[in-house]
Order: sequence, then C-alpha cells, then structure tokens
Amino acid sequence: MMSMFFDESIISRAKKKGLVEVVMHDLHDYSLTRYGSVDDYPYGGGAGMVMCVEPLANCIEGLQSERTYDEIIYTAPDGNLLSQPLCNTLSLKQNLMILCGHYKGVDERIREHFVTMEISIGDYVLSGGELAAAVISDAVIRLIPGVLGDEQSALSDSFQDRLVAPPEYTRPVEFRGWRVPDILLSGDHAKIAQWRYEQSLQRTSERRPEMLKDS
Ligand code: ADE
Repeated sequence: MMSMFFDESIISRAKKKGLVEVVMHDLHDYSLTRYGSVDDYPYGGGAGMVMCVEPLANCIEGLQSERTYDEIIYTAPDGNLLSQPLCNTLSLKQNLMILCGHYKGVDERIREHFVTMEISIGDYVLSGGELAAAVISDAVIRLIPGVLGDEQSALSDSFQDRLVAPPEYTRPVEFRGWRVPDILLSGDHAKIAQWRYEQSLQRTSERRPEMLKDS
C-alpha cells in the first residue's frame, strides 16, 4: 500500500530524477521467531500489542552499519507536531530513517536508546505510523531542489513565510459571471506582489490568526 503511494506521488518523480532514494524495510525480516512475529503482549497487562525491542534494534543497527543516519524518526501522536520549519530542516539532511509505530506502540527502550526525533502529524490517532511517514516524506522530499518543476513554487507555499497562500486563478477570465480580480490581469508585477501579500495577510488573520501571534 505504501509502495503504491511512493510510486505514484511527487516522490516517484524525485526518485526517477535520482534526487532521492526511498527504501522500505519489513520488520518481519528481522524477527527472531520462525513465524516472523514482531510484537508481544504488554508487560503489566492491557489491550493491544507492543512492538518488540529486538527486531527493531536489529533492523536499526543493520541499517546503521550501511550508512550514517542524521535522524532516526519515530512517528507517534505524542511527538513534536510536524511543521514547515521542521520539514525545511529535514530536507537538508542526507539520510533519514523513519520508524513507523504500530499497534500500541514500540517498546519504550527503542525510543530511549535509538530514536533521535519523534514526530506527530496532528492531534488525532492513526492506526499505524505508515501514513504519517508518507506525509513526512512527501512534505520533506518536495523541498529538495529539483524535485518540483518550478523552483519558486515550494518557496511560495502556505506557511513558508509564516502566512497562508493567496488565492490563485487561471483561464478563463470569466466563468458564470465570476471574474478574475482585475489586478492579476494588469501586468503590473509590483502591484500584483503587493496584492498577493495583502491577501495572504488577510487570509492568515481570518483563517489562522495564531500564526501571526507567535512570530
Ligand atoms: N501514529 C498514530 N497516530 C499518529 C499521528 N497523529 N502522528 C504520527 N504518528 C502517528
């Protein structure tokens, strides 16, 4: 399922251009048991399963013996909230390992001794970390120079300058009587830039006022 996402999205373009390599590892390959199990009942009781320390440690250390990782990221709802500045930082790194939590989570010793960064993609609980890893990968990989066709477009994203993006229009100039704002047709680039900035500011204060407060 995840490989489909990675083969279809912007990530596949980046892979084809040789700008990024994405390798998925199946924890079952590192299992110590004949049946390939990677989880067990939690000590102290309770519902759900916990991912075992040994296969995870084997996997992480096996990968570390092949290359140096800048970060070992664990996806969890109690991690640091993913943000554009964090994506920018991660896009400058060479090698990232993303460990997807599952079931009830991983044995805490993995988080204590191997994980260097914990990321949440929002205040809700997913059934597994794979979707979170896909979200992180997409948001980070698209920032790598050359991945997007138009170099400018990642820079003008919502959040990149701590404002949400202004409205955009394309042809036709009129549809059912709904017209594109005249300023965008004026050809006056300075005025257009000013208008876009004002729109961004207005939208940010209406839709995401907290973004203007913490700067
Ligand atoms: N795993 C489960 N829920 C998650 C979330 N909100 N963010 C990251 N990983 C998760």
